[in-house]
Amino acid sequence: MSHDRIDSILQEERQFAPPPAFTRLARIRSASELAALRDRAAADHTGFWADLARGELSWHSPFQTALDDSAAPRYQWFTEGTLNVSYNCLDRQLANRGDKTAIIFEGESGDTRRITYAELHREVCRFANALKAQGVVKGDRVVIYMPMIPEAVIAMQACARIGAIHSVVFGGFSAESLKDRIEDAGAKLLITADGGHRGGKIIELKAAADKALSHGCASIEKVIVYKRSGHTINMQAGRDVWWSDAVAAQAAQCEPLWVESEHPLFLLYTSGSTGKPKGIQHSSAGYLLGATVTMKWVFDIRDDDVFWCTADVGWITGHSYVAYGPLACGATLVIYEGSPAVPDTGRFWKLCQDHHVTIFYTAPTAIRALMKHGDAIPGRYDLSKLRLLGTVGEPINPEAWMWYHRIIGHERCPIVDTWWQTETGAHMIAPVPGAVPTKPGSCTLPLPGIAADVVDEQGNSITKPDKGGYLVIKKPWPFMLRTIWGDHDRYIKTYWGKFGGKYYLAGDSARRDQDDYFWIMGRIDDVLNVSGHRLGTMEVESALVAHPRVAEAAVVGRPDDIKGEAIFAYVVLKGERPAGGVDTALTEELRAWVTEQIGAIAKPDDIRYADNLPKTRSGKIMRRLLRSIAAGEAITQDTSTLENEAILLQLQGKQ
Ligand code: WTA
Repeated sequence: MSHDRIDSILQEERQFAPPPAFTRLARIRSASELAALRDRAAADHTGFWADLARGELSWHSPFQTALDDSAAPRYQWFTEGTLNVSYNCLDRQLANRGDKTAIIFEGESGDTRRITYAELHREVCRFANALKAQGVVKGDRVVIYMPMIPEAVIAMQACARIGAIHSVVFGGFSAESLKDRIEDAGAKLLITADGGHRGGKIIELKAAADKALSHGCASIEKVIVYKRSGHTINMQAGRDVWWSDAVAAQAAQCEPLWVESEHPLFLLYTSGSTGKPKGIQHSSAGYLLGATVTMKWVFDIRDDDVFWCTADVGWITGHSYVAYGPLACGATLVIYEGSPAVPDTGRFWKLCQDHHVTIFYTAPTAIRALMKHGDAIPGRYDLSKLRLLGTVGEPINPEAWMWYHRIIGHERCPIVDTWWQTETGAHMIAPVPGAVPTKPGSCTLPLPGIAADVVDEQGNSITKPDKGGYLVIKKPWPFMLRTIWGDHDRYIKTYWGKFGGKYYLAGDSARRDQDDYFWIMGRIDDVLNVSGHRLGTMEVESALVAHPRVAEAAVVGRPDDIKGEAIFAYVVLKGERPAGGVDTALTEELRAWVTEQIGAIAKPDDIRYADNLPKTRSGKIMRRLLRSIAAGEAITQDTSTLENEAILLQLQGKQ
């Protein structure tokens, strides 16, 4: 589609009303039904959530207090109640859905498995018993470093079943990152695999785990290894146990451990504006409620749906919309192990066709990458079962939105652009597809019970349309993070410091249009969004300066058509700057170094060498200037404070 056409859509403020064929069968079918929910939430915020918690979750013992805010901002929801998340996801389905397919799995090489609810329940029980046999008890931390296979979900559910706190580390993270996360959490047990398949290669998970453990991780007692790739790996006697051996003698029944509502279900590390990732801590009951109600409100999940969220379980999206939400709703979900480009870029659409996917949820970066390959490829597949499409992770540009709408959704499927974060646990601002007209590029309106607002520096609501400000949430919600593991002060400072403990600060800027629709504008902190993944500039800088030849580094984002943002690093070397600013071998070495320190997602796209970094008189790096240069824009900043203006030419790659 031409840019002119996109521009005209935007100028017309074009809206897409919910398609009648969709609305007819939707759970929430009209603006007035949705308004009734909103009114109820507005009239009695905690009562609204308490009713949902009673209705949606199965409790072992009922809660007495909906919200305890006596120690705010450490909010506690549904206190005195006990339940088990795995019971809610699995046992509850056995009566009516035991033979229903819970998971349709496809490996990168095309191997498939179907797992029913009864089978999944059995496997989770056996693995939960195996964890107990290895000495794991309630509250212990278990790190999961797995490929995207059903066993990753089984491991998570098994932890939930016995009250162990899981911390999933994305399989693309390096040994170094894995080690940092294991140590911060003080994990007792690590669950990994020999290797996973991605992009036609084997991802050496066990080798990376061995490396992490050889450098530290003293808290780890045992490593359970699932055999996936089948290649030769090292198994350390006394420490490493094959998954198949661990479960061999275990019973297929495991009584769920009833835990308090606030019992931590998991930690998930995410990037912030310092070099050290934060262990975001989520609760059991409140978190599960969020995953459940948003599956219903936003994904309109039904019993006959086949739901596919392409996210890896290493990210929050893979927690809420792979491992927990769909199962809590008794849905059939798809898990795909590999790359969207193997054997070609039609793979996602082929998967949708072959498995009759009805709801498809992915990231704008994937849509843009697949869009680049043209309309003919999706045209080869039967996408007629699709009824709803979703996006998450970054703003979606209207061009990609329109392509998704026309070429994938055949103008028949509503698109839900869902704004949320690791910290928020589940969707916060997103259309309810049978009730809210959509606009390309806007995540539309806050969900019922979510008090989102855009405020100015003083915390006052911005009512003027299209004026940007801070995105905040003004009331606690059940699926909010509870703290940062081991660093409650950082939790308070990061999320509640700006507005005196009153509002949750999301870290994004946003504006609202004349219809009160939200438009997310970008991060307000030093966090990049690379292919929908959060990455702190400080993390990449710390990795670079850990290299023996690097004295100083500054990392900024540069706009990128596919990834959203690319990583641009300015590097000052110890000793001489390379002649003409070019040293291809060193650049490759530094890229490989960062990959080893953090993971491939953090690999700088560009590295530019300079004698100095531009700093203000007070010694702060002029990041705005560096961002302009990286974007190839004209320099409008005042550079008179630069000690040596010649470095501008170096930074621009002109000298
Ligand atoms: C960004 C992912 C615009 C945002 C669930 C947020 C989005 C960060 C959207 C959280 C969206 C997420 N539109 N921006 N629909 N969804 N973001 O923690 O900057 O990996 O703060 O959670 O992604 O990323 P996280």
